[in-house]
This record gives sequence, structure tokens and C-alpha cells, in this order.
Amino acid sequence: MAALEKITVLGAGNVGGSLAQRLAEMDLAKEVVLLDIIDGLPQGKALDIQESAPIIGFSTKVTGSLSLEAIRGSDLVIETAGLARKPGMSRSDLLTKNADILRGHAVAVKSFAPNSVVLVVTNPVDVMTYWFRRVSGLPPARVFGESGTLDTARFRTFVAMELGVAPRDVTSFVLGTHGDTMVPVLSLSSVSGVPLTRLLSADKLAAIVKRTQQGGGEIVNLLKTGSAFYAPSASQAELARAVGRDEKRVLPVTAHLQGEYGLTDLCFGVPALVGRAGVEKILEVDLTPTERAAFDASVKAVREDLQVLAALPV
Ligand code: 2OP
Repeated sequence: MAALEKITVLGAGNVGGSLAQRLAEMDLAKEVVLLDIIDGLPQGKALDIQESAPIIGFSTKVTGSLSLEAIRGSDLVIETAGLARKPGMSRSDLLTKNADILRGHAVAVKSFAPNSVVLVVTNPVDVMTYWFRRVSGLPPARVFGESGTLDTARFRTFVAMELGVAPRDVTSFVLGTHGDTMVPVLSLSSVSGVPLTRLLSADKLAAIVKRTQQGGGEIVNLLKTGSAFYAPSASQAELARAVGRDEKRVLPVTAHLQGEYGLTDLCFGVPALVGRAGVEKILEVDLTPTERAAFDASVKAVREDLQVLAALPV
């Protein structure tokens, strides 16, 4: 049974299209709206997904729209719009252009769906989550970003590939920014409870950490014309389900910190309890001194990007 009335996916690019398909196939909402500014793109992708319903068996109505008014009545809004990286670009290079795009969306959400939960995906996601919340004025718990779920999926995949175990049996938290200074927390990583540090050498672990930190760039370099979308949309769908079905999942997300970890006025990757109200609780986990130092370096990187944002008109 559909848990939600309506989900709007802003942006019908590769991420938005793939996500809309996953959401429809999960039957999470009665309606999924795909929204974009390129005439034909959201309508075409939505119709294409809708035409798969008889085969897949989902009931969700999938529509495409060019109008921000289509956001009206959404329980969940997922922001995927914006430019993606090309080879040689960092996520921060996208900052001002994507802030411009998100400004209009945040204003529209405030007026058409003020009670919705918003999941921000657009990069640089830590900064864009902060920006979206600021412009929309929604409560901090109801605007959060996807980063750690994707980065943790990459880390778990690389560990599973190395050890030859089922990916789902690898658990971990990748915290901090969604960028090169992200922090895979080895002290909280295991294979079905067996500490990872007992299963892999320090060298192997260091190589996996590095590959995870550069995981998005690895795909950008392979694709050459854009960035990843299959693993990102899977991670977004996981978060959408946690909200829609009020699952109380414990997942790493980009959350608005209000004193947790000794930090304020920042959106940052931390473990959180995710349910129907959005980020229902931020969990403060113990980090080793080395992990905490890496976490603090990651905070510094996000604060630098936030300074660029401070100069922009809201
Ligand atoms: C990634 O890491 C697009 O930032 C996204 O692939």
C-alpha cells in the first residue's frame, strides 16, 4: 500500500529519472511527479516509466511537469536538479550555479508544500542542503541531504569485492562531507559484527578508504559526460522509503547540526534516525582521535564552501 500521497522529484536528468523509476517500483506513493525545465524531458521519462507498470505491477501514477506548482501537496520532495560534474571538476565548482537553481525550488516548496520533508541530492550536497533549508525556512529536521548513504554503499561494495562476502553483510558509516575529505569510520565497520580491522590489513583498508573518497570521481572519469546515478538513486530511494514508511532507519545523512559533535550552523554527514518526520534524531557516535581529526578537517572543507554561499543573495 502506498505510504505517501505524493513525491515530487525535482530534475529529470539521469538521477531524477532513475530515482522516479525506483520510487514507482517501490509503490511508495500514490503519485510521483517528475519536474524539469526542459520541455518533453519529464513528460517523456514519466510516461516511459508509467508504461512499465503493467509488467512490473506497480500502482503509482507517474507524471511529468514543467511547472513548480506541481509540487503542491507533496509529502516528500527530492531535489536532484542542477549541474553535474565533468572530469576535472570538484563538487564545489558547482556551488554558485546550483545555488541559483535551488533558490527558486526552495521558495516554491515553501509556498506549495510547507509541510513536506525535503531530501537534497544536488552537489555540493552539504552546502546545498544548508542553502535549501535557509531559503525555504523549513524546520531543520525536515531538510536533509543524501551523502553518507551513497558513500557508505561504495565503501561496503569495495570491502565486499575485496573479501568476497555479500555486500549487505558489510556495515559501516561514512561521515563528514560528500567530498574528498569524507570519513569512512573504520572503528564502526564490520562484516556481520566482525570488526573490519581484523579482516583486512591496514594497507588494504587505506586503499579502500581512498577509493571510497574518490568514488564519485571514478565514475565521472569513466562516463566522461556526467556523474553516477544508479547507486545515487538507490541510496535516495532507501532514504525515501525510510521517510515514507517511517522506518526509523539509522543511516548516515547530511543533517543540520545544532550543537551535536560540538558544531552549529552547518549541514554535515552524521548518523541519524530517519523516519516520517525526516531527521528525527542525530546520533553522536564515539570516534577515535584519528577519526575525529579527519572529521574536523572535513568540517573545515564545508565551512570554506559555506563562506562562498554567504555572499549570495537569499
Ligand atoms: C556521486 O558521488 C553524484 O556526487 C555524486 O557520484
